[in-house]
Amino acid sequence: MALPIRMAVLLSGGGRTLQNFLDLSRAGTLKAKVVKVISSRPDAYGLVRAAEAGVPTAVVRRRDFEDAASFSRALTREIDEVVPDLIALAGFMCLYQVPPRYTDRILNIHPALLPLFGGKGFFGDRVHRAVLEHGCKVSGCTVHFVDNVYDHGPIVVQKTVRVEEDDDPHSLAARIFEKEKQAYPEAVNLFAEGRLRVEGRRVRILPPSPAVS
Ligand code: GAR
Repeated sequence: MALPIRMAVLLSGGGRTLQNFLDLSRAGTLKAKVVKVISSRPDAYGLVRAAEAGVPTAVVRRRDFEDAASFSRALTREIDEVVPDLIALAGFMCLYQVPPRYTDRILNIHPALLPLFGGKGFFGDRVHRAVLEHGCKVSGCTVHFVDNVYDHGPIVVQKTVRVEEDDDPHSLAARIFEKEKQAYPEAVNLFAEGRLRVEGRRVRILPPSPAVS
């Protein structure tokens, strides 16, 4: 794959994850360029961030479609237009049914250590509240390939944080988000370098190929 790879981003909200990609891409440390942002909500602030960075945008609302299949087909049409190498879900709160040609080419980040505290209904502060209510001593974030089940596909990168005595959902979320800002670019760069090999549920991380001189 030619570097930087072409990456489409799907989001539904604030777009801090998108902003992190845009900032690192501009700084030259992300081996991917965001070529399109697709939002499931017309009022998502992530669309503003994309426009400010000169990235084309589209909106595909779930409620305009009868079922997940027709919604997913509409998303796929928008994605296909830019022929991306990779699709990154960045706070995308709808189920995207993956067409076969995008298998192992879609990443998602979840703010917990999957398979714990994931699946439908687990997003944002709800995740962190559940972690605290359960009394966990560690939490973290997970970057994984997307399959047709929420928060389920093969795991690429995980990073952990300690749960502190005085944590509330907000403070825990903030500390985990700092790890998300490292974990997601790390996974994108591994993908761009062709270093991820999916073997069933396991993702092997291959060594870097030797530099050509
Ligand atoms: C991120 O913390 C991400 O891990 C989470 O939503 C946030 C998006 O924030 N994703 C999920 O909960 C997915 N189940 P952002 O819109 O500011 O990038």
